[in-house]
Amino acid sequence: MNAAATGATPTEWWRDAVIYQVYPRSFADANGDGEGDLPGITSRLEHLASLGVDALWLSPFYPSPQKDGGYDVADYRDVDPRFGTLADAEALVARAHELNLRVIVDLVPNHCSWDHADFKAALAAGPGSPEREKFIFRDGTGADGSLPPNDWQSMFHGPAWTRVTEPDGTQGQWYLHLFDPSQPDWNWDNPAVRDDFDATLRFWLDRGVDGFRVDVCDALVKAPGLPSWPHLNLGVVRPIDGKFPPMWDQEGIHEIFRRWRGVLDSYEGERILCAEAWLMPDRIARITRPGEMHQAFNFAYLETKWRAEDLRATIDTSLAANGAVGAPTTWVLSNHDVIRHASRFGFDADLELQDGIGADDPQPDRELGLRRARAATLLMLGLPGAAYLYQGEELGLPEHTELPDEFREDPTWERSGHTVRGRDGCRIPMPWEKDARAFGFGDTDTTWLPQPDYYGDYAVDQQSGRDGSTLELYRAALVQRRELGLGGGELEWLPDLPEGVLGFRNGSVAVVANTTREDVELGDRFADATVALASGVGSPRLVPADTTVWLRLAG
Ligand code: NOJ
Repeated sequence: MNAAATGATPTEWWRDAVIYQVYPRSFADANGDGEGDLPGITSRLEHLASLGVDALWLSPFYPSPQKDGGYDVADYRDVDPRFGTLADAEALVARAHELNLRVIVDLVPNHCSWDHADFKAALAAGPGSPEREKFIFRDGTGADGSLPPNDWQSMFHGPAWTRVTEPDGTQGQWYLHLFDPSQPDWNWDNPAVRDDFDATLRFWLDRGVDGFRVDVCDALVKAPGLPSWPHLNLGVVRPIDGKFPPMWDQEGIHEIFRRWRGVLDSYEGERILCAEAWLMPDRIARITRPGEMHQAFNFAYLETKWRAEDLRATIDTSLAANGAVGAPTTWVLSNHDVIRHASRFGFDADLELQDGIGADDPQPDRELGLRRARAATLLMLGLPGAAYLYQGEELGLPEHTELPDEFREDPTWERSGHTVRGRDGCRIPMPWEKDARAFGFGDTDTTWLPQPDYYGDYAVDQQSGRDGSTLELYRAALVQRRELGLGGGELEWLPDLPEGVLGFRNGSVAVVANTTREDVELGDRFADATVALASGVGSPRLVPADTTVWLRLAG
């Protein structure tokens, strides 16, 4: 058992951890039904151990109608039969701990599924009932209440309100859903909701999990009176006309985080909370204050273009904001909600990719994307703080940008009237073995989303042990990051580098990233250094285009 399981040695392991995100439906399929499952994940945990990560974070595997890929939870304290059983979840945690991997699970507190027993009870109980008080029900506006209570927009497009049919068969109240209509928002002003989530935390903590990634944690509390907000804020939330959206980042969220922190701290070991909140670093750092969450995703970094000056600015603001409250900064380039970075970086021009990439859109250059993705990853892993990886990025896996539209499951595709493609392209089942069925994802030919033919070339068995492969680059980077103490170090910018080149010193290492399309000469300044690792063929004197090098400094 490791420290996480015994609570023996507090290490603040999370400050410089590398945490690997598993998307259960697409990782490994043990029962051959075309969808990944928990036994499949357990059977592949050695891959994570040999990659050298500290922890895995599992996206939701709870009972769910899967209207939003499991972020529509029907029961927070069980396992969906498609993914296995509670015993399978316990076996996964046990095996991970044997391999010295900590396990973080997803907490989805802003909304549940319309299949949740409490929501069904709320519908059945009718207006004014205590059951409805667990959600955000309001009467409609207009003469007959047939207009929504306010002008808020769903993140998946269309109104954020849906009208219900009352038990007596009449058209009745409306309920709020910041996401899909199948995801009713909880009412966090109701103490019963707070108590119920404490029970969910305890349920999983009792089963040995090492923490929670907390879904849209900045939306739990809405501004009193639900004031008008006709805008749709996608990506990192910024004020519009000097005003901040009334559904995000309200002051009341912090007491909830402090309450949860109290629950986690009452357990042995170091169990952590990681905030999913698309906020600017200065607002993020209010969530990572002492006594609240341990860390938060850095989406400002994820959104930063592959440009030296932009990267430097985001790195500076992130480190300053989190540093001021004593929290580590995190870094992330890919997850199950965004275009994989190996594809995002595969365009020469600055394209607007908010609506996703479909078969008829300009296609990324796979070679360019991979080259930059490797460079971006090596830059990220050289930065002090914690880093999050998304399954498949260690293979340099591109987005499936030509997924036929009929396979799309992301609710945004329908709700946007087929204008926003959504996130299916980054959720394609993993390729493990080139010559196996479904590239080793399962032992049948079925996969819930089709894998492009070329995914076989990226399979784990094609890269493992092959010099220069992306998988070996990640493995080497994680070994060296630990040996050189990069995650726990301090960053010092290197002055006078050519335009488009970013360089900093972290302990005994200089990290130099060339974000331009031209090779860059560094002259003699690192003449005494040796290359510890490079995303391409770098040297202390020359960093090729779109390449990052880690230079071990002399003395
Ligand atoms: C963020 C999750 O990562 C995303 O997949 C989901 O659709 C929304 N939150 C709503 O739960």
